Amino acid sequence: MTEQTETSQRPVLVVDFGAQYAQLIARRVREAGVYSEIVPHTATAADIAAKNPVGIILSGGPSSVYEEGAPSLDAGVFDLGVPTLGICYGFQVMARALGGEVANTGLREYGATDAAVVNDGGVLLGGQPAEQNVWMSHGDQVSRAPEGFDVLASTGATPVAAFGNDEKCFYGVQWHPEVKHSDYGQNVIENFLHKAAGLPADWNSDNVIAEQVEKIRAQVGTGHVLSALSGGVDSAVSTALVHKAVGDQLVAVFVDHGLLRKGEREQVENDYVASTGVRLVTVDARETFLNALAGVSDPEQKRKIIGREFIRAFEKVQADLVAEAAAEGEPIRFLVQGTLYPDVVESGGGTGTANIKSHHNVGGLPEDLQFELIEPLRTLFKDEVRAIGRELGLPEVIVGRQPFPGPGLGIRIVGEVTADRLEILRDADAIAREELTKAGLDGEIWQCPVVLLADVRSVGVQGDGRTYGHPIVLRPVSSEDAMTADWTRLPYDVLSKISNRITNEVRDVNRVVLDVTSKPPGTIEWE
Ligand code: XMP
Repeated sequence: MTEQTETSQRPVLVVDFGAQYAQLIARRVREAGVYSEIVPHTATAADIAAKNPVGIILSGGPSSVYEEGAPSLDAGVFDLGVPTLGICYGFQVMARALGGEVANTGLREYGATDAAVVNDGGVLLGGQPAEQNVWMSHGDQVSRAPEGFDVLASTGATPVAAFGNDEKCFYGVQWHPEVKHSDYGQNVIENFLHKAAGLPADWNSDNVIAEQVEKIRAQVGTGHVLSALSGGVDSAVSTALVHKAVGDQLVAVFVDHGLLRKGEREQVENDYVASTGVRLVTVDARETFLNALAGVSDPEQKRKIIGREFIRAFEKVQADLVAEAAAEGEPIRFLVQGTLYPDVVESGGGTGTANIKSHHNVGGLPEDLQFELIEPLRTLFKDEVRAIGRELGLPEVIVGRQPFPGPGLGIRIVGEVTADRLEILRDADAIAREELTKAGLDGEIWQCPVVLLADVRSVGVQGDGRTYGHPIVLRPVSSEDAMTADWTRLPYDVLSKISNRITNEVRDVNRVVLDVTSKPPGTIEWE
């Protein structure tokens, strides 16, 4: 499979010093209407120059620039004549490289800190209140600003908490403007981008759509395209975008593996098709999946079977469609994938993260497919993908959908997956989702897996009779990126409503329990 290149927009480059903040900074830059990309700190000045950046932001990172093996930056980056903003660790790297001093004074600042704006704040902090709350996380401090730099803010422990040099268009802040806890954080980023670097706010979903449509048309020409729809946001939006570009040269395939939630197939077959006009082929593989999963309780084995069966089902329909198209003299040469920017960053980052679970996505298609890939979301974050989906007129039930794992309900039944158990779980899940939406909590939770403990039974009483049913687990979590998560403190009355309804309306369930584990140590899904 071959890769395509990214957007033609000139980026603001966020140099990643290995902390978790680089993606957040890149998102904040985009929220300010400026396109941004992340590069590792090992990129040389020449690598960076080759990307033709309109600005550079040095991210936070480990606590000391003096530590052995501390990530460094090619000093040539400061000779490129590109407006640069240093943040936290990046601020210290900048101070040192330009002749300032960084010292370990033994004074640390973590969390909310009072900062005083001095010298009117210059371009970076101008117009902001003289006293403000900023979010700090550092041990070392810049004890002397480089020559030619004005100090723009200070705190109790840090005399040089922000600085700027208008002539060079170099700025820095010790705090983290990208986190919401810094009162005027976004304003710092916007001042740097718009006022200091003079960049217009012209990165928005309209432009992305127009640019991608043009690019896809150029890539595809008169060729034909295949796309696998999962019902999730990414495949829905990438497919719609490609359809907007090439219309009926695209055919979408939807494999119903029987592990979907209530109404999901209909949402794809009816609402999605109605709003896009996409030509859709549905493969009903419910029986095949159930047969393949019979007798299997081990989570990893289930995941592998579901992944394998998905590929089989897809390959079968693919062969038919390819043959059909070829008979009409129009070979299918392209495949759409909903790869997002965080996947691109993470796979290029080589972080060596341990494989905790073998993920199956619609993206988990066979490696040896003879297709050229179209990945129109490669430069985008999830919230941007949603914005584009809305702009394209996709139904809210699909665009606003919370993450749902590729193996679906198959990994939310602890025990063997059977048609009967799927029906029970589907009913319980539909009730939980309905009540959470009704209570207006969808925005607050990242997702709420509903899990059936099919191998567990407990005694209950209903009416006058004894019951011996299964527990349902509610797993509401709050998260920024699913890498870590906390359990969401849902209001008791909402929990009570969900519990009452599930135990009353869903057969064989006589208990509802709440999972109050963070991630780590628990994962979000149970399997
Ligand atoms: P865990 O359980 O690893 O889940 O904490 C993290 C996020 O990933 C989702 N998830 C998956 N998504 N294919 C997917 O597309 C998978 O196989 C898969 N397994 C888990 C999960 O719902 C959560 O959002």
